[in-house]
Amino acid sequence: MGERPALFGEGFAADPYPAYAWLRENAPVYRAVLPSGVSAWLVTRYADARRALADPRLSKDPGRHRAAEHASGRVGIPGERGANVMTHLLNIDPPDHTRLRRLVSKAFTPRRVAEFGPRVRELCDGLVDGFAGRGAADLIDEFAFPLPIYAICDLLGVPAEDQEDFRRWAGMMLHTAGKRGGVGRAVRRMRSYLGELIHRKRGELGDDLISGLIRASDHGEQLSEEEAAAMAFILLFAGFETTVNLIGNGMLALLRNPGELGRLRAGVLAGDEGLLASAVEELLRFDGPVELATWRFASEPLTLGGARVGRGDPVLVVLAAADRDPERFAAPDVLDLGRVDNPHLGYGHGIHYCLGAPLARLEARTALGVLLRRLPDVRLAVDPGELRWRGGLIMRGLRSLPVEFGPE
Ligand code: HEM
Repeated sequence: MGERPALFGEGFAADPYPAYAWLRENAPVYRAVLPSGVSAWLVTRYADARRALADPRLSKDPGRHRAAEHASGRVGIPGERGANVMTHLLNIDPPDHTRLRRLVSKAFTPRRVAEFGPRVRELCDGLVDGFAGRGAADLIDEFAFPLPIYAICDLLGVPAEDQEDFRRWAGMMLHTAGKRGGVGRAVRRMRSYLGELIHRKRGELGDDLISGLIRASDHGEQLSEEEAAAMAFILLFAGFETTVNLIGNGMLALLRNPGELGRLRAGVLAGDEGLLASAVEELLRFDGPVELATWRFASEPLTLGGARVGRGDPVLVVLAAADRDPERFAAPDVLDLGRVDNPHLGYGHGIHYCLGAPLARLEARTALGVLLRRLPDVRLAVDPGELRWRGGLIMRGLRSLPVEFGPE
């Protein structure tokens, strides 16, 4: 057994995969001390990860265990403690989770997402219009960052004149990630704005998702105004940085694999939707945005991949490690946009499986399609070693992605 490569820190964020390979081979369920000082079990093999995600003994509700509550406060999961406390899908268990998920699913339907397709296309084209003539751009700041904010605001029914506020709050969340104060402030502002918006919309329901949430709660089952605000918030929160990083990490993976980039561009120009769809799944598997987001807490002592996990211990399922497991994926370190057998865990698994997956897929496919069509010779403007990463416990993505291209 060689020495374990460092976990966490700048070098790790740039390329965590050697450390993950080491863990998978030598310590598949490993008790790590996180930068916050909290100890947590890291689960890195695909089979263990999938099992853990579906294990009802692993709870999402830190309020159920003293040790878990302490740990979640220390790592600063937004909305988990103190004045910010908020009940949403990602920090509750059945039966409450089942009820809330059923209600939101009535409003956030695949059909609603599909109908949103032309608007997403318009948003992508509008953003590219902003820089296409310039020959250079930062694809994070000018494209991947604003897209999901505007998309989810439109879908929720946030009026256009208020969307710049959201852009600012989202920027605060992104740039102060890891520093708890700034995130807390942004979360509080978004939260109270959404509370007011829900209150206002009650008087005048429209076609938007917030109106849909209010309607769902008015048909027998209960969704309090408080729960509706928390739901709108989690849709924004869960759907924002994930999408930024899927587009950012995905574009970088393409730029670093010119053969695959050329293959996808040819597919896009030929209208090959199948290749675009499998490409997005492969980019999610290959370098997905969610690292260690999938917190769980052991509600009772249990054995996981040979390790004895104590009651209240935090368990982090490392999706990015599981999705490179050679026991499950052929040639896992190779980017193959046409990969057929690809049951990746990028959207999780089990009852908390990503509710926004249809929207994420729509946004990512549209974004890549528009970028490759409109910036035919797009290339990295810096050496890959100069790229700076934002590595957190939850997400991993680029701070900026400078590219060059022939002006349109
Ligand atoms: C849950 C990934 C985009 C809303 C999850 C989970 C993952 C995930 C891994 C499960 C977490 C766990 O089990 O602990 C992603 C990725 C995305 C993405 C990779 C984009 C590339 C979105 C979008 C939305 C969204 C666009 C909404 C607009 C949610 C919600 C949950 C969730 C509400 C909680 C579901 C539940 O607990 O029942 N996502 N997500 N996500 N996601 Fe996403």
